[in-house]
Amino acid sequence: MEKQPKRHSFTGSLGFVLAAAGSAVGLGNIWRFPYLAAKDGGGMFIAVYIVLALTFGFTLLITEVAIGRRTKQSPLTAYGVLSRKWNWLGIVSCLVPAIIMPYYCVIGGWVLKYFTKYLTGGGAAAAGDGYFSSFISGGFQPILVMTVFMLATAFVVYRGVNSGIEKLSKILMPALVALVLVIAGFSLTITHTDGDTTRTGLQGLAVCLIPDFKGMTLGKLVGVVLDAMGQLFYSLSIAMGIMVAYGSYLHDDASIRRSVNRIEIFDTAIAILAGVMIIPAVFAFEGRAGMDASGPELMFVSLPRVFSEMGALGGFVGCIFFAMVLFAALTSAVSIMEAVVSSFMDKFKMSRAKAVGIVFGLSYAAAILVCLGYNALYFEFSFSTVSGGQILDILDFVSNNILMPVVAVATCILIGWIVKPKTVIDEVEKNGEKMGRRGLYIVMIKYIAPALLILLFLKSIGLLG
Ligand code: PHE
Repeated sequence: MEKQPKRHSFTGSLGFVLAAAGSAVGLGNIWRFPYLAAKDGGGMFIAVYIVLALTFGFTLLITEVAIGRRTKQSPLTAYGVLSRKWNWLGIVSCLVPAIIMPYYCVIGGWVLKYFTKYLTGGGAAAAGDGYFSSFISGGFQPILVMTVFMLATAFVVYRGVNSGIEKLSKILMPALVALVLVIAGFSLTITHTDGDTTRTGLQGLAVCLIPDFKGMTLGKLVGVVLDAMGQLFYSLSIAMGIMVAYGSYLHDDASIRRSVNRIEIFDTAIAILAGVMIIPAVFAFEGRAGMDASGPELMFVSLPRVFSEMGALGGFVGCIFFAMVLFAALTSAVSIMEAVVSSFMDKFKMSRAKAVGIVFGLSYAAAILVCLGYNALYFEFSFSTVSGGQILDILDFVSNNILMPVVAVATCILIGWIVKPKTVIDEVEKNGEKMGRRGLYIVMIKYIAPALLILLFLKSIGLLG
């Protein structure tokens, strides 16, 4: 066997939990969860989400972490170690972060741009009509900010598991929690009068927390469940090879079960707090209609407008908001890059520095194309469930709607039917503690999770409702 340098590991479960939570807490928590909560019946969506997190999310997350720790391999090679014939699954699950990396860094660059804009007192301009679209189609600027963001990501990954990823997460995650709490608290105190209507942040909070069963039918409920599941899946960074890579750095005596619970609680709490941060403010200033925005439009168009309506305080709130989003995006980008870099290191036995160099080079070239998708490479087209998409949307569609469900279903089949759930259960119980929810785990991984995932897949490619 070739000689390999000793594999790095997290110093303890806290480092692992914060790094994994850093990956999980990202743009999805901030720009999609609050929107879905407002759209899908408030507290009802949140309740469905929590139930799914404890069953479906628990099953998939624990599986990926256990695969990583058992094989001590990154995604590209881990599946082949479990079963030789399943090597292809490693390739697909390494392809997912490789595809996400370029466009996530482009969006990270946009966040960086807004952060610096607010920091230097230009927040009011950022709220102007057409500011966002003229910025992203501007050619040079988006490439510049993407370059800075990707270099920062590569630097952290180059520093390695302990002095890079773990250290960054230990600093940024607590800071992120503090900033979210400050903004959420502020958001709840807002009162805004618009002509003769006065709306408060607290009324907005009611929209996101109080369950709304009005007009609920079975068909709609299925829609809510699938929305919650799609969100959960993306939000926990599942089926992207990331949790396999991070799991491979977890000590054998650490508790997988407890770590997974903590990651889920962290991620869900931040998602709900993001709702408390965004919905009351948007509701107070723009009413119910303002809550129809999600994704880049919510973050780069609606929220800047809300900040500018806040008057003198708006510039400051905008600045801490984008700092918080930047932290969330950076720890996620680091995890995506690590999944690919560690795969190259394991597969081709190359040094970390070399792997970072190669992955950076390839991602950078692709990210430039993504930026130009709004400029020189702009063209009008739509496909499947995406209309008017650009290069970014195509990459997002292929990774999220096609490859991720394939990885997740295949993982369920591999663990549930080929190598058997015992492989995962034994790994989880290696440190001498009971896994808990064991029967549930077996039923979930063999039957329920794959069935739900197939439904989700059909829906996301537009074949279902
Ligand atoms: N889980 C992150 C979120 O909710 C997203 C993410 C995507 C993280 C891809 C890593 C890789 O935003």
